[in-house]
Amino acid sequence: MDFNLSSLSLHDIEEILAIEEVSFKAPWSRSLFLEELDCKTAFDYVVKLTGGENDESVAAYICCRIIGSEMNILRIAVSPKWRNLGIASWLLDNCFKMALNKSVTSVFLEVRDSNRAAISLYNKAGFTQIGNRHNYYSETGEDAVVLMKKLT
Ligand SMILES: CC(C)(COP(=O)(O)OP(=O)(O)OC[C@H]1O[C@@H](n2cnc3c(N)ncnc32)[C@H](O)[C@@H]1OP(=O)(O)O)[C@@H](O)C(=O)NCCC(=O)NCCS
Repeated sequence: MDFNLSSLSLHDIEEILAIEEVSFKAPWSRSLFLEELDCKTAFDYVVKLTGGENDESVAAYICCRIIGSEMNILRIAVSPKWRNLGIASWLLDNCFKMALNKSVTSVFLEVRDSNRAAISLYNKAGFTQIGNRHNYYSETGEDAVVLMKKLT
């Protein structure tokens, strides 16, 4: 099985919406993903699996914004079927390499305090906590942990 990285396209949105539903307490809507396609500062990638029976199905995706030397990660998810195989780590590594080529020097994100899997993923990827946003997620009142990583 191989992973293959491509830019987010209209054809991916149906599969992404299915992953959103099972991955987030507040899933993004179709219209939000459609807006991503038109957003000039969006930096969005999809991981597809090739080989065997998995031909070209979406396994993971990431949605970021790049403004100047800063990148913000807005969304990252891996299909439950393909978790714990290193796909998110691989996706982040590849995004960091591509972002460096666009002169990005710092990467930021917010993550729910309770999302232990994601926090562990980000710690492993070299992020450090730079802040905490109280009551950030309105539907649950959860705090957000703000993380940052310098790219070199
Ligand atoms: C968080 C998520 C993206 C991780 O994807 P993944 O491909 O399974 O992650 P990887 O296999 O690359 O794992 C990398 C590291 O993340 C951490 N991790 C991943 N899943 C974990 C889990 N269920 N529990 C604890 N740590 C976990 C571990 O540190 C792991 O390193 P290790 O394998 O050496 O232990 C995935 O669980 C997901 O899509 N969750 C729902 C969406 C979400 O929460 N996105 C983040 C929003 S900020």
